[in-house]
Amino acid sequence: MSRQYAIAIDGPSGAGKSSLAQRCAKAFGIIYVDTGAIYRTVGLAAYRQGIDRKDEEAVSQILPGLQIEMRYDDNGEQRMYLNGEDVSREIRMPEISICASDVSALPKVRAFLLEMQRQLARENNVIMDGRDIGTVVLPDAELKIFLTASAQARAERRVKQLEEKGVKADFAEVLRDIQYRDDQDSNRAAAPLRAAEDAVLLDTTEIDFDASFAKLCEIIEERLGVLPTGEAS
Ligand code: DC
Repeated sequence: MSRQYAIAIDGPSGAGKSSLAQRCAKAFGIIYVDTGAIYRTVGLAAYRQGIDRKDEEAVSQILPGLQIEMRYDDNGEQRMYLNGEDVSREIRMPEISICASDVSALPKVRAFLLEMQRQLARENNVIMDGRDIGTVVLPDAELKIFLTASAQARAERRVKQLEEKGVKADFAEVLRDIQYRDDQDSNRAAAPLRAAEDAVLLDTTEIDFDASFAKLCEIIEERLGVLPTGEAS
């Protein structure tokens, strides 16, 4: 299939980007790419090797030895592989979230992962989420969304999400992690989190998942002139 359009979704941690993008991908029959998972995989590798995640030289030295792959399972779920090992579950641990944010601030890490992300959007219609998709990775995306919600609302949702996956979480700790990452992701020099000038702003603080999904579908239909075709629509 040749690419007709790309949808970029950027926003802070826990705004609901991945759940919404995943459901949209199913509804519109396109591929969902979770770029945070790629940074998390690098963060996990640095964590396992016990190196200082803020030391750009130390982290960049391990990059050539990392084989990072993204595959889709039979349910269409994205899975991450690090040197052949399925690390999809491990990269979701709270301590790895912090590692991911740390390594993602390093320009050499961002440069290393850029082409991998662009390649995915070259041949497929994608909905790709991250922090710099509309600004750096796919500046020519046909639709850019900036999805946000208050830190409190995002922490509440993250706790619920982790608990559903069987991971016990402490609200205060989750909120602290979110604030740490918001601060670091927004204030770093390399590709900081910010809305592209031509992004459509969607704030989900006051609306639940179904209402956010309906709103997102409405924006996609209106801006791209495409209709949902698949399941979950
Ligand atoms: O979306 P997430 O929480 O899984 O992302 C993990 C970290 O990776 C997050 O703190 C910021 C970083 N990230 C990034 O810098 N650029 C992206 N395109 C995606 C994620």
